[in-house]
Amino acid sequence: MSTQIENRGEAHDGSACSNTPKYQQDFPIEWEGDHYVSRREMVKFLTLGSLLLAMANWVTAFATRFVRRRSTAVQLLGPASALEKNGSMLFRYPTAESPCIAIRTPKGELVAYSQVCTHLSCAVIYNKGDNQLVCPCHRGVFSVDQGSPVAGPPTRPLPRVMLEQRGENIYATGLEA
Ligand code: FES
Repeated sequence: MSTQIENRGEAHDGSACSNTPKYQQDFPIEWEGDHYVSRREMVKFLTLGSLLLAMANWVTAFATRFVRRRSTAVQLLGPASALEKNGSMLFRYPTAESPCIAIRTPKGELVAYSQVCTHLSCAVIYNKGDNQLVCPCHRGVFSVDQGSPVAGPPTRPLPRVMLEQRGENIYATGLEA
């Protein structure tokens, strides 16, 4: 007991010891509070904290894969006749800063994607001969049917623009990111 009192920098009569450093006099150690957390509790706390952080990272990483962001603005692209088989058309959707490309495949289907390569954001172009979307920067290649990467460095598919033909006109109706 007397040792504890001396560690607080106090003499038996309650006055401060002259050989105790000033910082210890100003900030005396609360021994009861110091012993409040045991080593075992500390290890438990660190382990649980690490597990929670790992789980939060895991949830964040996988949630972004399954939660798809959508834009649902409707925008007129032009007359369907402007897009012949094996032809492509550039447009911007959903904002003026978002370049996109619409293609009428050799089978006659209409598809559209963001033109921004998922590798390092160069603009992809349509290669009629191979019926593929090609990125000239690092020779990335995407399939026209799905927008999925088939060659080169890109690993993620191009965001798809949903198209609808209403009468003679083609409209962009949504963007899957
Ligand atoms: S930016 Fe398109 S492949 Fe690198």
